[in-house]
This record gives sequence, structure tokens and C-alpha cells, in this order.
Amino acid sequence: MSHHISLTRYLVERQREDGLIPGNLRLLLEVVARACKSISHAVNKGALGGVLGTADTENVQGEVQKKLDIIANEVLIEANEWGGHLAGMASEEMDTILSVPNRYPAGEYLLLFDPLDGSSNIDVNVSIGTIFSVLKKPEGGAEVGEQDFLQPGRQQVAAGYCIYGPQTTLVLTVGKGVAMFTLDREQGSFVLVQEHVQIPPDTQEFAINMSNMRHWDAPVKRYIDECLAGKEGPRGKNFNMRWIASMVADVHRILTRGGVFMYPWDKREPHKPGKLRLMYEANPMGWLVEQAGGAATNGRERILDIAPTELHQRVSVILGSKNEVERVTGYHLNA
Ligand code: AHG
Ligand code: MN
Ligand code: MN
Repeated sequence: MSHHISLTRYLVERQREDGLIPGNLRLLLEVVARACKSISHAVNKGALGGVLGTADTENVQGEVQKKLDIIANEVLIEANEWGGHLAGMASEEMDTILSVPNRYPAGEYLLLFDPLDGSSNIDVNVSIGTIFSVLKKPEGGAEVGEQDFLQPGRQQVAAGYCIYGPQTTLVLTVGKGVAMFTLDREQGSFVLVQEHVQIPPDTQEFAINMSNMRHWDAPVKRYIDECLAGKEGPRGKNFNMRWIASMVADVHRILTRGGVFMYPWDKREPHKPGKLRLMYEANPMGWLVEQAGGAATNGRERILDIAPTELHQRVSVILGSKNEVERVTGYHLNA
């Protein structure tokens, strides 16, 4: 890296050169980055900060919340509610949307987040993250409502995640490629480390929770069986496997060196379309992956084209290296 470009400078230059980032969107992204910095500090303190373990409460999806799920959610709300850039927020950890309190001015953006992704990895010191998605509030209607959030992912105006791993890195798209910024703890700022991130179209690495194999649908089973058959099988090459159980960490690896990630529908809970959440996980990650030259589908259609009907909607996810995603999707369509 020849010269240091801070996140602020990067955003100002995108605003000036590409006209992609209006002032209020820049403010929003800076506030989200600041909140992530604060979550990163809490994560780093671990047991010393009393942030590990469960909170003994349940979220709307019936999952037991960890202390950090709640802390991260509060940090994001407190950072974002007063700036005047938002009309409302929605979170994996809140039952309903939160409109900006009346005592603050309301803005035109909507912020959606998975405050802490990879909750099962918090206490074991494995990479976790925060995922966010930004939409514009549709015109008209003074009060913001849940309906305003139900927009397909292709309408996002910004999306990203912050991974809390060996480094804390913020990964962002505003619709013109993907850029990565690593937190410089001495400076206290995010510094650009990579621009124009590209996912190679081919890969020999897949990520899926193999313990669910017996519950999968035939197309997913076929794809993985063919990978496992290796050089002697129909694919004629060996595959490697990784499963971190933090979507942020698996997606970060894919943005860095390629790969395919799948959390498909399975027979354990057949009435649910999948485990992951469309609005807080699949849409922002799907857009990042597409912006890096990859693809993201639910096995049948592009994730970003799905018209949401519910805030906490779940979805089957296949994303990553383009040729592999197209292959798995093809197996579904021709099944
Ligand atoms: P969250 O911690 O926000 O609930 O998300 C966890 C998700 C995702 O990050 C990961 O890919 C997946 O759940 C792991 O699920 P399994 O434990 O079923 O493998
Ligand atoms: Mn998650
Ligand atoms: Mn979460």
C-alpha cells in the first residue's frame, strides 16, 4: 500500500467522482463504521469485558440471544438514531421495525442489519461480524412502516459487513465494485486495503454444513457428491471444504480467494425456505458477491430479484464463484 486512504476519504472521493454517495448516505456509512468499531472493541475484550455467554432471551426467530447479539444491536441503534439520515431501522434481533424517535429529524434511508453474525462462534474466539444493508424509503407516506422495508435486494443503495477476526475489516459496496478497509487501531480509522475485489469464476472449494447432508434436496446432494468424487469423478478435479459457521467469515474467504457457499433448504424444517435471512444476510451478501463478479441465487432465482413479503423472511442461499453457482442452480432448474 503506497498511501493510506481512509474510509472517509474513499467515501468523499466516490461522492465527488462518481456521484454515488449523497452526503447523508456518506454520513450513514460513517456512522455504521463507527458503530462497528465500537462492537469490535467489545468483541476484543471478550471475558474481560463481560460480553461472552448467553442473555437468556429469545429473538423473534426463536433463537436464544447471546449477550453480544444484544450489545451489538444497541450499539447500532444508538449510533444511528440521532443523525437525521435515517427514517427507520430493522434488525434480526428486533421483532418489528424501529422508526427514528420523534425528537430527532427523520431522513430518507432505511438501515437493516444482522448485528452479530456467527453467534455460535462468539464464545470460542472464532471470527464473527456485523452485516448491513441500506435502502431508500419509498416516496410518500410520512410515517415509516414495515412495508417500506420490503424491497428486493437489487434496490439496495449500499451494503456491507464488518468482520471481527484476526483483523477487523469493513467490506463495502455502493454499487461500483467492492472495497475492503482494515481497522488501524492506533489511528482509530478504517484504511483501504483492497479495491475492485474480484471473485474468480471457478473454484475448488465449497462451504456447506455437511452434517445436514441427509436432509438435503437432490440437486444439492448431487452437486456435493460430484465434488466429493474428486479427480476420478465427473468434475475431474479435487475439492476442498471449509465451514466456519459465520456467514461473514465464509463470505470473506470467498471474496478473498473464491469458493461457493451454500445454506440450502432442507427437510429438518420443510416449511421454512432456508435458515438464513433474506433482508439481513442474503441480500447484502448477495449484492457484495455480485459486485465482485460472483453470483447469488436461492437455487431457482437471483437472490436480489426476490420480492420480500416479510421482514424476517428466510431464504435458501447459494453464492460465490459464478460458474459453480450457475452449476448448482442449473441442477435445481433441471431437477
Ligand atoms: P446468526 O449468528 O446471525 O444467527 O447467523 C448464523 C448463521 C450464519 O452466519 C452461518 O452461516 C450459519 O448460521 C451457521 O449455521 P449452522 O450452525 O447450522 O451451521
Ligand atoms: Mn447471521
Ligand atoms: Mn445474528
